[in-house]
Amino acid sequence: MTTRILTGITTTGTPHLGNYAGAIRPAIVASRASDVDSFYFLADYHALIKCDDPVRIQRSRLEIAATWLACGLDTNKATFYRQSDIPEIPELTWLLTCVSAKGLLNRAHAYKASVDKNLENGEDPDAGVTMGLYSYPVLMAADILMFNAHKVPVGRDQIQHVEMARDIGQRFNHLFGAGREYFTLPEAVIEEEVATLPGLDGRKMSKSYDNTIPLFGSAKQLKDAIARIVTDSRAPGEPKDPDNSHLFTLYQAFATPAQLAEFRADLLAGLAWGEAKQRLFQLLDNELGEAREHYHALIERPSDLEDILLAGAAKARKIATPFLNELREAVGLRSFRTNVQAGGETKKKAAKSARFVSFRDEDGSFRFRLLDADGEQLLLSRSFADGKTAGQVSKRLQSSDELDLRVEGEAFGIWLDDEQVASSPGFADAAARDAAIQRLYVALASQE
Ligand code: TRP
Repeated sequence: MTTRILTGITTTGTPHLGNYAGAIRPAIVASRASDVDSFYFLADYHALIKCDDPVRIQRSRLEIAATWLACGLDTNKATFYRQSDIPEIPELTWLLTCVSAKGLLNRAHAYKASVDKNLENGEDPDAGVTMGLYSYPVLMAADILMFNAHKVPVGRDQIQHVEMARDIGQRFNHLFGAGREYFTLPEAVIEEEVATLPGLDGRKMSKSYDNTIPLFGSAKQLKDAIARIVTDSRAPGEPKDPDNSHLFTLYQAFATPAQLAEFRADLLAGLAWGEAKQRLFQLLDNELGEAREHYHALIERPSDLEDILLAGAAKARKIATPFLNELREAVGLRSFRTNVQAGGETKKKAAKSARFVSFRDEDGSFRFRLLDADGEQLLLSRSFADGKTAGQVSKRLQSSDELDLRVEGEAFGIWLDDEQVASSPGFADAAARDAAIQRLYVALASQE
């Protein structure tokens, strides 16, 4: 069985080395496995929750898209798209919002943190809290459930959101599934072996600590950032302690075992910090140099990026559009044409009496009639050479969900494969004819 992996990247910043080692690189590696179907997307609707600077949003979307492609994501295999190019996602968000308990969302960490902070400052608990922030987990649930993802690789801070997606999906299945599990219940995956990189000052590399190493800055920017890595004050020649050096940890995230063993031995033998930084620069430049060029070439051609992302959205919507139609059906947002099964009561009553009756014509051919609950004839079929064909046609009328019904004056005909297979009697007027059409749908629905 193929496993469907899905994850989103909020588009509010520029990717740094920590994002690369912790998320981008492992995701791209995972997407290459033959038994995996991966969905990676720019969570730009989520970005609007945290950021009201349009220029920054636009810049970040472009940079993140270029980063993933430059790092080698194969968009023929993976499905790579912008959340905001999939209108089915906000639509599903609403269907899910209507089954999400407010109490569940009250417990979301991000919302609770804002409330706690407000209370601490003696403010109204909801001061500055938008509905976007509050419903953040529902939008995320729609991202995940829309594509029936099995596994969702995320950081620890997102586990709760994936669990909420499970809860919400389960609730929907329970309410509307009628035995069918519309949604796969997703699982969060936390990659334990994946490197959490230390930043320049040794704390976790993060934009909020301003201690990051840019991923695709120029070689000079990379060199300058590395120069700012904090080390201890041991002089050249003095042995260094690799296990207490975050410079060493950074090196480890990119080195082969042989390179790492050599680096460790050299540090223990007194390698100068300046020299050690030069080696780290070389290592990173080797790993990222080619991708950096690719990245800058992509950034220069935004319209090519646009094409790639629109193609990704089209691929995603091939799944999303029909699935959302089924979900709309499930909740009762149905076409009046195909779903007139009024209430359950009508259906039950009709089930007792609406029926197909087959018979042989004088000339020996086979036909059938469809009679409604009151025994009134709704349809008379054309004649068939054998009973088997007649039976198949009546079966198909019962099971087709799009009936090809064509009105002809005060009567109507039923078509299959572009051939008329049955016709109604002539009715007194258009209103009587339309009422009969309604009874026809009820009768057919009751046959299932
Ligand atoms: N909220 C996630 C984050 O900030 C991003 C995200 C949005 C996401 N939708 C998702 C992650 C769906 C996984 C699945 O990291």
